Amino acid sequence: MSLNINTKIKLNNGVEMPLFGLGTWEISEGDTIINVVRWAISNGYRHIDTARIYGNENGVGKGLKISLEEQGINREDIFITTKLWIDSFKHEKALKAFDRSLNNLGLDYVDLYLLHWPEPTYRQEAWKALESIFKEGKARSIGVSNYYENHLDELLNGADIIPAVNQVELTPYLYLKELKEYCDNKGIMLEAYSPLTRGKKLKDPKLMDIANKYGKSSAQILIRWGLQHKIIEIPKSSNENHIIENSKIFDFTISEDDMANLDKFDEGLYLGMWNPTLSRWK
Ligand SMILES: NC(=O)c1ccc[n+]([C@@H]2O[C@H](COP(=O)([O-])OP(=O)(O)OC[C@H]3O[C@@H](n4cnc5c(N)ncnc54)[C@H](OP(=O)(O)O)[C@@H]3O)[C@@H](O)[C@H]2O)c1
Repeated sequence: MSLNINTKIKLNNGVEMPLFGLGTWEISEGDTIINVVRWAISNGYRHIDTARIYGNENGVGKGLKISLEEQGINREDIFITTKLWIDSFKHEKALKAFDRSLNNLGLDYVDLYLLHWPEPTYRQEAWKALESIFKEGKARSIGVSNYYENHLDELLNGADIIPAVNQVELTPYLYLKELKEYCDNKGIMLEAYSPLTRGKKLKDPKLMDIANKYGKSSAQILIRWGLQHKIIEIPKSSNENHIIENSKIFDFTISEDDMANLDKFDEGLYLGMWNPTLSRWK
């Protein structure tokens, strides 16, 4: 499959989602996030990932609005994801939180709405709320985040709608192959967060060796690895040069041998607050 910056994958509900996008965690509300969104869209990004808990939905929406006007792009050409935080997993609260997010973003629909974490008490109730939001047409797709096989088994048991996407921490250093197979079998697209290991492994000599071979940076190899596995990648940057660098990954292909080599980097390295092995908060 030849890839470009706007290559889309068809989700299980027919909606098309760009495989490559921008992460926005820890990018401050206001001018910072507005500029980041503008830089990203002007450099070809067509997919932005935010969350209510990131506190920057407002700026994402403003940056989007300015970019659409400046560049003559249609809203439908940009894929926007946001997420429901665990303090609002009860049904009514979830519906209100969604409306607040829409309002923050200044949009009348989002492309993907995710349950942010599998909060144990209300996660099933929260999924029902997302199903009703989807049925109303306010979210074109719904999905989950930080869900592992046991959570998905539970969810699918009581669900009318199969999640379109599961967003989890995933890199060559945390290659969740079994979860990928599980999601592939159920028609759920896997989306990788912290795809650059939050910068922690960018100087790993064995990664740098591969990067040097292709004349690319370590960050570019990590993103390209995910895309070649048909995993959605959302590297975060608030630096214009990095935003551009991270998008220059469509003019080369990692060979099968090097993909296999990268697959073997797995060392169970998870950096998030969620412990996927113990299936609990760290
Ligand atoms: N669902 C969840 O629970 C969850 C959890 C975590 C993250 N996420 C999502 O996934 C996105 C990405 O994950 P992340 O933010 O944790 O980490 P990441 O994308 O793995 O790494 C971001 C870090 O890498 C740096 N960086 C970016 N491009 C670089 C480059 N080309 N060269 C060197 N350094 C570079 C950034 O610094 P600069 O900004 O200075 O470039 C930042 O420090 C988040 O922003 C968020 O949207 C979701």
